[in-house]
Parts: sequence; C-alpha cells; structure tokens
Amino acid sequence: MKKKRLVVLISGSGTNLQAIIDGTKEGVIPGEVVLVIANRKDAFGLKRAQRAGIDTLFLDPKESQSKVEYDQKIMAAISACRGEFIILAGYLRILTPFLVKAYEGRIINIHPSLIPQYCGQGFYGLRVHEAVLAHKEKETGVTVHFVDEGTDTGAIILQEKVAVLPEDTPQSLQERVLQKEHEVLIRALQKVL
Ligand code: GRF
Repeated sequence: MKKKRLVVLISGSGTNLQAIIDGTKEGVIPGEVVLVIANRKDAFGLKRAQRAGIDTLFLDPKESQSKVEYDQKIMAAISACRGEFIILAGYLRILTPFLVKAYEGRIINIHPSLIPQYCGQGFYGLRVHEAVLAHKEKETGVTVHFVDEGTDTGAIILQEKVAVLPEDTPQSLQERVLQKEHEVLIRALQKVL
C-alpha cells in the first residue's frame, strides 16, 4: 500500500510529532511525514523534524495580515509537498474554515481530555489538567478526532481513559496523559490511514 503523505502542524515540544516520526520510520504507521510546519520559531518539534531529515517551515503569524492569509500560506506549503493528511500535534491555532473545508476528513487533532469535556476555546496545555483536578474528576483521557469548523467538535476517531490519582498535580497528570497520547495517536493514524 502506498504511504500517505503527512504534514504535521506544531507549536511546541513536539513529543506527539516524535511519536509519529518514530511510528512512520518503524513502519507501524502507513505514512511518511513530508513537512512539519510551526507557528513558533522556537518550537522544539522543528529540531526533532530536522534531526529526522524532514523538511520544516516556520510561518510567522506576524507576517500575515489575517488568519485567512496565514492559512493560505499553510495550504500553499501543503500543496507544494503534495500533503494528503494534516495532523495537528499540539498546534495552538484554530484553522480557518476554508482550510478545514479543503482537507475535510483529512485533518486530525489530538486533545488531552475526554471530549466533550474540557475542550474548546481556552482549554489547552496545563489549563485542561488544572480544570480536571479542580472538578475532582476520577478520570480524564485522550481524544483523537477529525477537525471540523468548530473547536474540538469533529467526529471522534479514538478515545481512551486515564485515571486521575489522588496525589496528581496538573503537571503529573499532564505527563501521564501525554504518554497515553503517543499511543492513542499512533493507533488512530493506523485506523484512518
Ligand atoms: C499535547 O497535550 C496535545 O494534546 C496538546 O498539546 C500538547 C502538545 O504536546 N494539544 P507535544 O508538543 O506533542 O509534546
């Protein structure tokens, strides 16, 4: 089977990106990462990609007049490398509808909670885990879903639970959820690709 051409969008550390890179190199994901795009110059994931010999692109939001113009640049880059699927792996911008429509059913996001809980505007990074602890939840989890025009509202591909422990801090919970994200993301990609 022909490998799918994947473009990964990131904003930070890129541990999920690393899991994808490793999965493709080990042949457990039927795809190859052809481009990594970041909206932050210091996103460590760019280094991970470069180390793996993958093309990278930093697109500075300050150099675009609007969100649409920014996403047009993303689309041009994806078309240029013939990307087939877009994976949002810790990408902290919301895609504009025209980009979502252009790649409908081919954009995948990972979110560190059990959607529909603790998702949507403002729920990113540690904030998600702080809210889970503040509400004294016994469990949280990971969701991989298709991206639609809403924020964290698209069809769910896979979801898996993670127990909240009495001694958890937002940081310890984030770390445990992140480990689970790497596993679930690979399985979700196996399913979709
Ligand atoms: C992950 O928790 C992801 O679900 C979220 O941002 C975090 C990114 O982690 N959207 P990393 O950059 O993949 O290490």
